Amino acid sequence: MTERTAAARAHANIAFIKYWGNRDHELRLPMNPSLSMNLDGLYAETMVTWGDKLNADTLTLNGDTIYGEGLRRVSKHLDALRKRLGLRDFARVVSANNFPTGAGIASSAAAFAALSAAGVAAAGANVSERELTTFARLGSGSASRSVPTGFVEWHEGNSHETSYAESIAAPDYWGLVDVIAVISAAHKPVGSTAGHRSAETSDLQTARVAGAAERLAICKAAILSRNFVAFAEIVEHDSNLMHAVMMTSRPPLFYWLPPTLAIMALVRQWRADGLRVCYTLDAGANVHCICVREDADEVSRRLRTLSEVIDVRIAAPGTGASIINSSSVA
Ligand code: PMV
Repeated sequence: MTERTAAARAHANIAFIKYWGNRDHELRLPMNPSLSMNLDGLYAETMVTWGDKLNADTLTLNGDTIYGEGLRRVSKHLDALRKRLGLRDFARVVSANNFPTGAGIASSAAAFAALSAAGVAAAGANVSERELTTFARLGSGSASRSVPTGFVEWHEGNSHETSYAESIAAPDYWGLVDVIAVISAAHKPVGSTAGHRSAETSDLQTARVAGAAERLAICKAAILSRNFVAFAEIVEHDSNLMHAVMMTSRPPLFYWLPPTLAIMALVRQWRADGLRVCYTLDAGANVHCICVREDADEVSRRLRTLSEVIDVRIAAPGTGASIINSSSVA
């Protein structure tokens, strides 16, 4: 019996310029390029064991054995790895997140980035970071952005090979902090895989996509010049555009809850009063309050006074996917 094991850790990421909608759903080729920051302290750790005596792929997630759709999605991802790496073995996958799944903190991004990195490492294969991002993308589009370090751009591309992510700045380049106001830890009603398919049913999607490259250029320049005023304006605008598409899809997708909108208004007020903070939301009700490090404690303190906020998570810029000791996962 031969078994080969490796484990990897990858962080969740928060998109400043959002990915919403695919031109190719199977390959998860996005309609537009996107830009994000990895979130230190919010991660998935995944161990992959390829074994020649295993009869099927298995998945354990946060201690529970997973069957059905969850297992099928991981197995499909393993099929892509098997094909590229020339493997025939099944795999035992053990994974754990240290944050709630499916609640607007991108758990699938961290999970598929870690799964891809561990799967490749366990096979002993030599794969470039760029190629690894394309594999992660097959499992969950935003997972491509959890592979490189720090602030990351995902080029939309027009094929599997050209749709990849790369770092534009290291984690310590700019001391931004994501102060996440958790208002619902419930699993979101419509996951992003179905959401991406619905994007094209909104009349607004064409207009959102048309301006995405320009918004990305503005956001990237704001990050590279550490210009918070320009950054805040484009980040909130891009989030509003994505949610406008979601709300005008048929059937509509409303991820916001009443406290979501209340916190968005407060954040704008706090910024007008002098705090360097802006909001962005993924496919969930939680509000990601992005601020400069000096203002993070005050933003967090104010959020904690709100009765609708059940938890506040704070994340600085994180590193990319890395190989870790497998004994720490199992
Ligand atoms: O990678 P997915 O399929 O979970 O899609 C992520 C979509 C958003 O989080 C809403 C936006 C983004 O760019 O991360």
